[in-house]
Amino acid sequence: MESALTARDRVGVQDFVLLENYTSEAAFIENLRKRFKENLIYTYIGSVLVSVNPYKELEIYTKNHMERYRGVNFYEVSPHIYAVADNSYRSMRTERKDQCILISGESGAGKTEASKKILQYYAVTCPASEQVQTVKDRLLQSNPVLEAFGNAKTLRNDNSSRFGKYMDIQFDFKGAPVGGHIINYLLEKSRVVHQNHGERNFHIFYQLIEGGEEDLLRRLGLERNPQQYQYLVKGNCPKVSSINDRSDWKVVRKALTVIGFNEDEVEELLNIIASVLHLGNVQYGGEEGNACITSDTQIKYLARLLGVNGTVLTEALTHKKIIAKGEELMSPLNLEQASSARDALSKAVYGRTFTWLVNKINASLAYTDDSYKHYSVIGLLDIYGFEVFQHNSFEQFCINYCNEKLQQLFIELTLKSEQEEYEAEGITWEPVQYFNNKIICDLVEEKFKGIISILDEECLRPGDASDTTFLEKLEDTVGGHPHFVTHKLADGKTRKVMGRDEFRLLHYAGEVNYNVNGFLDKNNDLLFRNLKEVMCMSENKILTQCFDREELSDKKRPDTAATQFKASLAKLMEILMSKEPSYVRCIKPNDSKQAGRFDEVLIRHQVKYLGLMENLRVRRAGFAYRRRYEVFLQRYKSLCPDTWPNWQGKLADGVATLVKHLGYKPEEYKLGRSKIFIHMAWLITNTITAAVTCCVDCDSLKFLFKLFLLPCLTFRFIKGFIYRHKERCPENEYFLDYVRYSFLMKLHRNLPKNVLDKSWPTPPAALTEASEHLRKLCMQNMVWSYCKKISPEWKHQMEQKMIASEIFKDKKDNYPQSVPKLFVSTRLNGEDINPKVLQALGTEKMKYAVPVTKYDRKGYKARPRQLLLTSSSAVIVEEAKLKQRIDYAALKGISVSSLSDGLFVLHVPSDDNKQKGDVVLQSDHVIETLTKIAICADKINSININQGSIKFTVGQGKEGIIDFTPGSELLVAKAKNGHLSVVSGLSHPQLHSVSLQRFPIVSK
Ligand SMILES: Nc1ncnc2c1ncn2[C@@H]1O[C@H](COP(=O)(O)OP(=O)(O)OP(=O)(O)O)[C@@H](O)[C@H]1O
Ligand SMILES: [Mg+2]
Repeated sequence: MESALTARDRVGVQDFVLLENYTSEAAFIENLRKRFKENLIYTYIGSVLVSVNPYKELEIYTKNHMERYRGVNFYEVSPHIYAVADNSYRSMRTERKDQCILISGESGAGKTEASKKILQYYAVTCPASEQVQTVKDRLLQSNPVLEAFGNAKTLRNDNSSRFGKYMDIQFDFKGAPVGGHIINYLLEKSRVVHQNHGERNFHIFYQLIEGGEEDLLRRLGLERNPQQYQYLVKGNCPKVSSINDRSDWKVVRKALTVIGFNEDEVEELLNIIASVLHLGNVQYGGEEGNACITSDTQIKYLARLLGVNGTVLTEALTHKKIIAKGEELMSPLNLEQASSARDALSKAVYGRTFTWLVNKINASLAYTDDSYKHYSVIGLLDIYGFEVFQHNSFEQFCINYCNEKLQQLFIELTLKSEQEEYEAEGITWEPVQYFNNKIICDLVEEKFKGIISILDEECLRPGDASDTTFLEKLEDTVGGHPHFVTHKLADGKTRKVMGRDEFRLLHYAGEVNYNVNGFLDKNNDLLFRNLKEVMCMSENKILTQCFDREELSDKKRPDTAATQFKASLAKLMEILMSKEPSYVRCIKPNDSKQAGRFDEVLIRHQVKYLGLMENLRVRRAGFAYRRRYEVFLQRYKSLCPDTWPNWQGKLADGVATLVKHLGYKPEEYKLGRSKIFIHMAWLITNTITAAVTCCVDCDSLKFLFKLFLLPCLTFRFIKGFIYRHKERCPENEYFLDYVRYSFLMKLHRNLPKNVLDKSWPTPPAALTEASEHLRKLCMQNMVWSYCKKISPEWKHQMEQKMIASEIFKDKKDNYPQSVPKLFVSTRLNGEDINPKVLQALGTEKMKYAVPVTKYDRKGYKARPRQLLLTSSSAVIVEEAKLKQRIDYAALKGISVSSLSDGLFVLHVPSDDNKQKGDVVLQSDHVIETLTKIAICADKINSININQGSIKFTVGQGKEGIIDFTPGSELLVAKAKNGHLSVVSGLSHPQLHSVSLQRFPIVSK
């Protein structure tokens, strides 16, 4: 485990759990600082990843890094966002449980960047087919589009998410990402019409103006100058050094295409964006307070871009439809009312288009394979971070409420439930103090009494409700709440820093003053009916989907913005609770977006409100393992004679006896009311002991060491090990799954390289059969791809070699030497054969030629000859003469010895007058020569391999004998007994110059 870590990784501690002085906040921050200075931005608290925004590009997100984290245990490599991504992925696959990764931290802390890194990690490391690649591309490309329309430069972050995003990535059973789904949360629509000083509108407006082609801008009636647009000048910040709107425009345009937007849709989308800018420039004037539009330039563009009637639009922007005594009347608006009607329209158009965009992306990401409905999910939550500005309004109220809810979820899942269990079990336990922010969540969301309820009440009640009456109502209702203050209720010191139209909430993350102006309007989020009607008549296809005519006939008042938001958050909590969570806690190192600056005060504040110290203390003090007594006894009773086979007394006493017998010291464990609790540190010691005594090999031991830092898994592992020989059961399923998983991973990394590579990892007993199937499949696959790649010549070569093997393998001594040497098409070139011979052969095609030695039938004199194989016969040639022709049809058989010599006899019928008896020949390439004869003459089964001697006819019924004896050198001579004696020497390897090495075995 340590081997993968470099010296750099060991700066400070990479898991705060290892911090000696773990209760000291100073030590905690010092560790963060030390690592941050070395660009080590990630550190763990157990399984929680703490990430400090480096504000600079680090070389830690390359493909190599991704590979390093792939399939590796969490603690084997240095902390990284990829480790969290990989861990969730593996848990999803092995434990078959949906996962979610919750990324939190204040605005600018790096949540969106972290979520993008995770997505990239899956896109690169997960298996992919062509279809999956499309999904991966779309998942990745959804980011620039959503950021263009939903992110903006704020004082806190140049690319601040102004909407919440929860994204499900769906994986099929092979672990390939096959789909996705995004849920968006409350977009900060007010930004469309107003921006605080130093902030911008949504990126897309600037991208279009800066990057849009001349033609496009002309068609949209836009100028390449953001200063011309009222909706872009409020923050007085059209240019941002860290943003290149022009190149971002190109990225977005391309991304829209990848996601599946056709040209018409892009055009209609841009028409809407442009029309919002034109709406902002609609100027009002008018007498007697009645608003009228002073110039119709904008209206002309708007009519065209929105696909509506200009006159009807003009009227709707200056009048309000009222119903008096059953009659519809158009009542003129004053200047202020008309401006806010116009702004309401801009916000509604933009907001609804944004939702349409998310739906469109979802349609393009939808998993469409009907044949396989089941998929697993990893959810990514990247939502706006806690934020405090000089001027905080309804939007900050919603954003910060959302962060309270997420903090509450974190507490519920990590701190509270853990401690509650210790308490319920009566475990002596020094409770870790933490701030439970439920009290603030209640203050905001409680039915009837919470701030949202009071706000809704003011919005809905008849009469002269206003932002001020809302503030007064708040003072009356929640005035006594410890986390609520107003100017009126505050002490002298606080009063100095609060406006009379503000209320202050003491959030878990700090105090925020909210200005009530605009709360009612924003919560009502109303759009005059006649404006809605105009939009419902739009010819723009996107707008017709955004403004549904049914809405006009629906008499029910829609839920207020805050109530809708509250409901969507409640749903989000449900989604998150149903999944296995992982946490990334992002920290912002300074307020000036600078690399290398570690602002200790700012960081201490975040460490505090993120509850990281409490998180660490619970983690350190906690018990890694707990089991109900009956379960514990049942599983481990066999380790102690007193508890085996059955314990008769009280369960708690049985467990106490068992652990005493196992040598557990009192400080190693605690006995609760119904469960035993075991500390992680001591568990390590015990587990090592268990491993030493029962582990089979060193690898398992090493593996256990790694696992110690994953405490919950450790015990399951050991338990599984004990039950490993039993049928699959709840006790061993984790272990068996792990064994299977690790064998498959090992196999994956060590597959044979080519068809000759016979290596194969030894499978665990349970996988012997599966392993054998896999081995065969793998071999078939390699053979298949090998065969696919071979040339016709090579195929021919292999066919001949196969025949040679069939004839000679294990039968003739010099066969093995012949194996690696290639057979050639001929051993004699055209010029080696006398032209007269070639002439005599006429049209007969020559298939093979080789120099041979012929032994006379009588004196066994050796004569140099050539053996030519044609399509119909074997011809023996002496210089220019065809000495003998043996038709294949007449060839009775071929004899050869089992030794290493090259002698062979061609047997011909003795009654054939044309033939003068059998022919005794010798070839330096006997295996090749005989294989060629066997193929040409179709006599594969007529080759006799003899031991000792060969009999042959010497014409007129006389018999000759060749005796073979082994020796070191070939010696052929007539023996005294009249036989031909052959001392079989080694063949002549130097003659076989072409070797198989020239044709490397094709690897898979
Ligand atoms: N891992 C990182 N490496 C390099 N730069 C980073 C990293 N994380 C964040 N940054 C920088 O910080 C900026 C802000 O990060 P990001 O947009 O992710 O913040 P956020 O937490 O999503 O904020 P908000 O709540 O406002 O949306 C990024 O635009 C980038 O410049
Ligand atoms: Mg963000």
